[in-house]
Amino acid sequence: MGLKASLVVLSLLLALALASASAKQDPELKQCRHQCKVQQQFSEEQQRQCEQRCEDYYLQKQERKREEGREEEKGGGDDRKQLKECQKQCERRQQKGRSREGCQQRCVEAYGRKGEDQPRNRRGKEDQEKERGREWVNDRYEEEEEEEGGESEGREESDNPYVFDREHFKAIVETEHGRVSVLPKFTKRSKLLRGIENFRLALLEAEPNTFEVPSHWDTDAVLFIVEGRGTITLVRQNKRQSINIEEGDIVRVEAGTPVYMINRDQNQKLIIAQLLRPVNLPSQFEAFYGTGGQNPESFYTAFSWEVLEAALKTDRNKLERLFGQQQQGAIVKASREQIEALSGHEEGGRWPFGGGESHGSKGSRSFNLFNKHPSHANQHGQLYIADRDDFKELEDMDVMISFANITQGSMIGPYYNSRATKISFVTEGEGYLEMGCPHLSSSRSKHSRHQKQQGGGGGGRTYQKVRAQLRRGTAFIVPAGHPVAAIASKNSNLQIACFEVNAENNVRYPLAGKRNIIDLMEREAKELAFNFPSRDVDRIFKSQDEEFFFAGPEEWQEQEKGYADE
Ligand SMILES: *[C@@H]1O[C@H](CO)[C@@H](O)[C@H](O)[C@H]1NC(C)=O
Repeated sequence: MGLKASLVVLSLLLALALASASAKQDPELKQCRHQCKVQQQFSEEQQRQCEQRCEDYYLQKQERKREEGREEEKGGGDDRKQLKECQKQCERRQQKGRSREGCQQRCVEAYGRKGEDQPRNRRGKEDQEKERGREWVNDRYEEEEEEEGGESEGREESDNPYVFDREHFKAIVETEHGRVSVLPKFTKRSKLLRGIENFRLALLEAEPNTFEVPSHWDTDAVLFIVEGRGTITLVRQNKRQSINIEEGDIVRVEAGTPVYMINRDQNQKLIIAQLLRPVNLPSQFEAFYGTGGQNPESFYTAFSWEVLEAALKTDRNKLERLFGQQQQGAIVKASREQIEALSGHEEGGRWPFGGGESHGSKGSRSFNLFNKHPSHANQHGQLYIADRDDFKELEDMDVMISFANITQGSMIGPYYNSRATKISFVTEGEGYLEMGCPHLSSSRSKHSRHQKQQGGGGGGRTYQKVRAQLRRGTAFIVPAGHPVAAIASKNSNLQIACFEVNAENNVRYPLAGKRNIIDLMEREAKELAFNFPSRDVDRIFKSQDEEFFFAGPEEWQEQEKGYADE
């Protein structure tokens, strides 16, 4: 069948599937969601997770139904294959420079999750929020962004291309035992993120006692273990290396390395933040599964049976059986015995005792950030940094990893990075972020006018004050040179893991506290710069004597009040 003919068939299939896609919402799903809503004791986040579980369950049910249907049809319409094919078409469209908007979405609607009620556009705000909770594999988020651009609610936040909520992560692997999700290409969000367009941020979450099946990815990766205990195994030429991982570990996985993983904890989730730099297509990557069969689809089955028969010296019947078994997806449950057998078989490793000496040493593949002394620490927080001097494996990606543990009620900064752009991920706690950004302000005539009245000689520049709530699961970008501060809520420490790209020769310049940039200037420079006696400038810029971490606004106000009352 020619390409043209198959395109026609495909679009027919699409049309058919779209027609049936708007079937009524599943009553069971509705009921399940309702149950989540009426749980008074649930926080908003818990409610969302609850609803997510309903949807996961529902999707699996759909999957099972399809699976059954497939058996009956046998050889007929295989939704998964069609979904893949459909998505490939989208990729091709995109490569030809045509928009992919909505294309992936249609694929998913057609083949991925039939029967869900999906009125497009013009939904109530509330519905949209709910929708976002299950935005996976599709590109609708960007569409919404365009439609909503500059609408009433909190202009600062909706215009802000630097902050991503949990909902922005889209699942690329999803089973009942875990998921891998990834932020959309940064340039899809905004041109302002072009500087990091070759990077992607992904998140792996695996339930206790699970196995992530072997695969290789056409992307370099740096992994930061946010939570949990696992073992990651890398198959290298002629040997295999298993690394026991825990909170704070950094692991480098080179593109193309066959890798598999377990969560060896019985209770705790394994959560890993991953910075990816694809090696094949810019900012685009794929997983290649060498095992299993249908789900995940094995790349072995991309070969003809003749070639496989010859290559594996095995007849087709046996091969068909072998590559037809794995149907459970890329993250599967493992027994306690299997977990134990797969735990920490480092050379010489007698887990939990072995492997220690190889940590951080030359040629090792992992390094624990918390084994180092913090580079800054006081009562308001600690900052841990690992760069290529600590872990040589970070060198070729030019990445540095840092972790800020900001005490409740305290803050980090203001400061800026001279060269590095931070790709940050909130691992724990709540708070907010403030950042000055000159790029966002250029479209803001109101502000520019204000600036002109002041006789602003800086080319009419204003800094848009980017302010965003931070909570567990929020990701945010801080471009080089941009002044930033992060403030922890009064209730909990705010913990932020950062991948800093373009790390070499980066300098953190503090804008307040010890060694701040103003403090280091000459008297005359201060006077000329501020048009103010340098004595007074000094009084202000020398009064904070902490470094990097300070009391936050509320704490400071309370202290002040305390003094005033005395
Ligand atoms: C963060 O700081 C708190 C003290 O404020 C400490 O108890 C906790 O262990 C720290 N966490 C990490 C991951 O460093």
